[in-house]
Amino acid sequence: MTRVAIVTGGTRGIGEAISLALKEQGRTVVANYAGNDTKAKEFADRHGIAVMKWDVGDHDACIEGCKQITTDFGDVDIVVNNAGITRDGTLHKMTFDDWNDVMRVNLGGCFNMAKACFPGMRERGWGRIVNIGSINGQAGQYGQVNYAAAKSGIHGFTKALAQEGAKFGVTVNAIAPGYIDTDMVAAVPDTVLEKIVAKIPVGRLGHAEEIARGVAFLTSEDGGFVTGSTMSINGGQHMY
Ligand code: CAA
Repeated sequence: MTRVAIVTGGTRGIGEAISLALKEQGRTVVANYAGNDTKAKEFADRHGIAVMKWDVGDHDACIEGCKQITTDFGDVDIVVNNAGITRDGTLHKMTFDDWNDVMRVNLGGCFNMAKACFPGMRERGWGRIVNIGSINGQAGQYGQVNYAAAKSGIHGFTKALAQEGAKFGVTVNAIAPGYIDTDMVAAVPDTVLEKIVAKIPVGRLGHAEEIARGVAFLTSEDGGFVTGSTMSINGGQHMY
């Protein structure tokens, strides 16, 4: 049976690698995206993966988007909450919008997508949810009170929902990536990034595929006894 998977923010960066890994695993993948139509079209043409545009911070849009996917492709059995944004800045410079945008998309998106898909998984007795957290939600990061709070919230959300899903065959796990060579990390000023990389024991940035392999395992049939866990994939930068 081909299971349907949704990857939010699934057309670029870590999300793109996750979409590809799940497709390779034989899933029917739909990659959600919010902004970049050109990149999304390129992605769809290149990989033959369906794309669908909505803002994961918009509750109603998540409900509608997932309904549409169910109609077009079938019941959604796998959700990867990967969509995330940064609005970095030290607290004294951070605006309320910088705070709110990050909370709304990064943490609110997990709630919205779970509301859309978890009840069906629970009824059908099988489901996989993987939430992409961050090393910065585990350890904190200078200039990221918004992002660190949202990602830390994701880790709590994961453990709570895992308890609700366990007896229904629904696993809920998180992956906490370290610094991965994506556009998001490339936006960190070079001088700051050099200092960060110097603290990674493995001595390099991670690759998006290294996160995707973790997602592929957690969403597999074999991953059924793993729930409420956080897989840290960070080159040893934070051992947690
Ligand atoms: N610890 C202590 N002090 C620090 C520091 C740190 N980690 N980083 C910067 N500072 C200090 C600087 O040394 C500087 O002090 P002095 O003025 O005394 O020299 C002061 O803070 C101001 O630093 P900036 O000039 O950098 O201040 P800014 O306002 O221009 O920028 C910033 C602040 C936006 C936070 C910038 O430092 C930055 O972009 N930092 C990187 C944040 C980061 O790691 N983001 C991760 C993005 S990727 C991601 O989030 C993915 C993931 O999940 C891992």
